[in-house]
Amino acid sequence: MSEAAEQRESVFRPAETARGLILEQHHQLREMLWIGLAQTGQSAPGDGGQEPLRELVALIRDVFVRHLADEEALIVPILEADLPVGPLRVEALREEHSRQRRELEALCAWPEEGSDIELAARFETLARMLLGDIAHEERELLAADDGRHVPSIVRRSS
Ligand SMILES: [Fe+2]
Ligand SMILES: [Fe+2]
Repeated sequence: MSEAAEQRESVFRPAETARGLILEQHHQLREMLWIGLAQTGQSAPGDGGQEPLRELVALIRDVFVRHLADEEALIVPILEADLPVGPLRVEALREEHSRQRRELEALCAWPEEGSDIELAARFETLARMLLGDIAHEERELLAADDGRHVPSIVRRSS
């Protein structure tokens, strides 16, 4: 598709464009989380092997936090216009994002002298929770409507 056609597409089908961008970011985040999970299973306690995990945690935080901002910029206006349920979904989305930011920051603030085993365990818990959040979000907010060619951000549950 040409650039001009892509631009026309994104102007006329903002929900579909937003959905595509967010799904792409989810794909990247999933990969990073799975790499981290694979890493937590590899290093032996006390061998300094958690250094790459600390770096990866910081990277995941950066990418995830950018994703949350993109999601808020792209999805919130669409949801807010979707009365009557949209504003409630916005509230739930904002609460979830605050929790995710808090948890990611807490893990990044893990002290240098803190236990590597504990860091790996906390990362594992957080990574699984974030993977669950992503899957839930895709089911509840990003599923394409069945039987129509214009997917929407919101899948109506009626
Ligand atoms: Fe989200
Ligand atoms: Fe997301």
